[in-house]
Amino acid sequence: MSAIEPTRALSGTGNAEWQQRKLAAIARGQGNIAPVYIERARNAELWDVEGKRYIDFGTGIAVCNTGHSNPKVVAAVKAQLERFSHTCVMVTPYDSAVRLAEALNELAPGESPKKSIFVTTGAEAVENTVKIARAHTGRRGVIAFTGGFHGRTLLAMGLTGKITPYKNLFGPFPGEVYHAPFPIEYHGVSVADSLRALHSLFKADIAPTDVAAIIVEPVQGEGGFYPAPNEFMQALRDLCDEHGIVLVADEIQTGFGRTGRFFATEYAGIEPDLMTVAKGVAGGFPLAAVVGKADIMDAPLPGGLGGTYAGSPIGCAAALAVIDVIRDEGLVERANAIGARFRQRLHALQAKHPDTIGDVRANRGAMLAIELVEDGDAGKPAADLTKALVASAYEHGLVLLSCGVNGNVIRFLPALTISDELIDEGLDILEACLADLLD
Ligand SMILES: Cc1ncc(COP(=O)(O)O)c(C=O)c1O
Repeated sequence: MSAIEPTRALSGTGNAEWQQRKLAAIARGQGNIAPVYIERARNAELWDVEGKRYIDFGTGIAVCNTGHSNPKVVAAVKAQLERFSHTCVMVTPYDSAVRLAEALNELAPGESPKKSIFVTTGAEAVENTVKIARAHTGRRGVIAFTGGFHGRTLLAMGLTGKITPYKNLFGPFPGEVYHAPFPIEYHGVSVADSLRALHSLFKADIAPTDVAAIIVEPVQGEGGFYPAPNEFMQALRDLCDEHGIVLVADEIQTGFGRTGRFFATEYAGIEPDLMTVAKGVAGGFPLAAVVGKADIMDAPLPGGLGGTYAGSPIGCAAALAVIDVIRDEGLVERANAIGARFRQRLHALQAKHPDTIGDVRANRGAMLAIELVEDGDAGKPAADLTKALVASAYEHGLVLLSCGVNGNVIRFLPALTISDELIDEGLDILEACLADLLD
């Protein structure tokens, strides 16, 4: 039992009633995975308006790496609120933005001098990498990868390599965006296949000298939690160096300790030219940034980048606290320990259900997944079972998220502050729900 008391229902209104009102008031395009209305959250647990408790394996999609309402983050935000909430960093800036930029420049992989800019959402950060790369190179093309996810604004959607539900109905998309296959050994696409496809693209669609940027997730998030092999990231680095292309690492889902490194690109030992950060950076406050090599970052003219709420002082204060918590509490190392605990359990579960759990992805810290298939066949995605498993988990008090181009991947993104006991309790629920569905 948790020390936190279950909460009373909010004005007697339960989940079903809120869901009815939500469906009537919020357009269906902004869907929700579960009809569960949260009243409060602490660290790795949530309580809904009916007082029901949930273990959180989703962290609001990789945002609350430092746990819900981390006391140090809350204290930093409260202190900032006492000072001021907004002046606009592009009008009269403040110390926290400068200190955060200095910290990000220091944390970003590689030795080159760095600079940062702030925006508000991940998609905006992605869009700004394209603007900066175009300003720096004077070129137009951008290459992204199938299964990649980069956000819901039009250019970010154009870069995204997954149609449903993100792209259907929303075209036409901005031009000069090209896709190459992302290497996924489990689905028969090798690193050599991907590199060959990139070279074909250079012959058939766009000259490498017209390409401003290649954008890649070091571990594909929404696309299915597939890590980019180190040799692939290294080959992209070489290719970009050869042709003067800006290499962009989208670390929006992978950053801030999630993968057992501060940034996932560190696994490949390469330095990206530009990097996006969002989600985990501010522990639940809307903040995003582009961090990159100073000479490239300085290509746009003053005023060409930014936004009214870019680098909000609340977000900056939260992010500075998040970085302190990750360092002081050893959360990068903790991500690896969490990964090891999940790995052992997930492999045992796969041994129990070899025809259903086709693949376990558990070698990037606390960014883990299982892929559900039929008859042990990677080509037969079990999307309905995945949906049913997620729904059953919510019923039994576990927040689970799915992902994958075929909707058949369960992803695990627990807070890096979660206890071993909660991990075990959550995995017990998962195991019981799966066994029940396969009965
Ligand atoms: C890798 C990646 N890039 C970009 C985005 C878009 O971020 P936002 O939803 O904050 O716009 C996401 C969000 O899931 C993401 O995972």
